[in-house]
Amino acid sequence: MASSREWFESVAEAHRRARRRLPVSVYKALLAGTEKGLTLRDNVAAFDELGLVPRLVGFPGGGFELSTRVMGQEVSLPVLISPTGVQAVHPEGELAVARAAAARGTAMGLSSFASKPVEEVLAANPKTFFQTYWVGGRERMLRIVERAQEAGAAGMILTLDWSFSHSRDWGSPAIPDRIDLKTMLRFAPEVALRPGWLLRYARSLPELTVPNMAPGPGPKEAAPTFFGAYAEWMGSPSPGWDDVAWLRERWGGPFMLKGVMRVDEALRAVEEVGVTAISVSNHGGNNLDGVPASVRALPAIAEAVGDRTEVLLDGGIRRGSDVVKAVALGARAVMIGRAYLWGLAAGGQAGVENVLDVLRGGIESTLRGLGKGSIHRVGREDLIVPEGFERRLGVEDGG
Ligand SMILES: Cc1cc2nc3c(=O)[nH]c(=O)nc-3n(C[C@H](O)[C@H](O)[C@H](O)COP(=O)(O)O)c2cc1C
Repeated sequence: MASSREWFESVAEAHRRARRRLPVSVYKALLAGTEKGLTLRDNVAAFDELGLVPRLVGFPGGGFELSTRVMGQEVSLPVLISPTGVQAVHPEGELAVARAAAARGTAMGLSSFASKPVEEVLAANPKTFFQTYWVGGRERMLRIVERAQEAGAAGMILTLDWSFSHSRDWGSPAIPDRIDLKTMLRFAPEVALRPGWLLRYARSLPELTVPNMAPGPGPKEAAPTFFGAYAEWMGSPSPGWDDVAWLRERWGGPFMLKGVMRVDEALRAVEEVGVTAISVSNHGGNNLDGVPASVRALPAIAEAVGDRTEVLLDGGIRRGSDVVKAVALGARAVMIGRAYLWGLAAGGQAGVENVLDVLRGGIESTLRGLGKGSIHRVGREDLIVPEGFERRLGVEDGG
């Protein structure tokens, strides 16, 4: 629980605190985005176009029903932690996030570019899905799968939407390979402006390594550096649908494909791969700039796959009403990225818990305003969806 001095009332305030506390390069790494930032902005702005239809009478009282099941896991609210690398913004990184998610009864995706080993994160939150990209070929992927299996990961997330665009009109941060004293000196002018961050960090002086990308299954094998692993991934050809189906079969358990924006690909994921879940996502606008907001692609995908798979919405969630809007358009739950990263930077585990509490509170007050007591009862009739809002990608009449 955040102390009353540390507590914040909105994700926007967590964002402001993160910005104040972090060195500029670290802040920019979290802000991310690509090229002109069109997709980054549209992910958030699209939610503002969706109106809500209030109802005075109807709330049944007696608390709110927010819990649901995702990838076989019971979650106490329809908000999950999306996988993100670079959580070395806080010394406890993914462990703080895992503990916060567990404390608030929800599941998390752990990035293969995470700074903490999957075994430790699972001990902190057994509802952890391991996320990987397609790296190397089948042999290499097999070793990644085996390690996650041995650790007991509750599911696998395969993320395929990455285009290696490295230019941002607002400038990219320099990310050091390891945060040692030499680097501290190089970054001294920036870091000197954020002494609080330095003090917290100086206790552990971490290296920027990615332990879950170690070549073998054992946790003791040498972890590659973030950039070493990134180069390997960059040099890898993308998989075919047969490779994705193969990976799904080797994994065996709950399996999510993340980054789906097209109806035709959603259908292939369901019919050819048999995925448990798809995450309608454009990587939080960090990928191909100009792709529409993920929430615009959600209705057509949800309608096409029906109840054959679980559909999650990922991208642009900053408040509880955004969660309700996504569910009303067909999502079972949402996944959040920056919202919890701001919380982590602002207050560690307590900051992430605070963000989840802010979202829960916002979902509940939105439900009350809609005259409903359960997230399972919201639907399109609760929204004003302006003409031209949706994007039906990968269908013949699409656009
Ligand atoms: C700093 C940062 C790092 C990320 N790293 C990963 C990653 O390693 N794997 C992945 O699948 N997605 C990654 N993502 C994308 C998130 O999982 C998620 O799709 C996105 O943040 C959702 O948008 P939002 O930030 O608006 O909530 C990253 C996003 C950010 C902002």
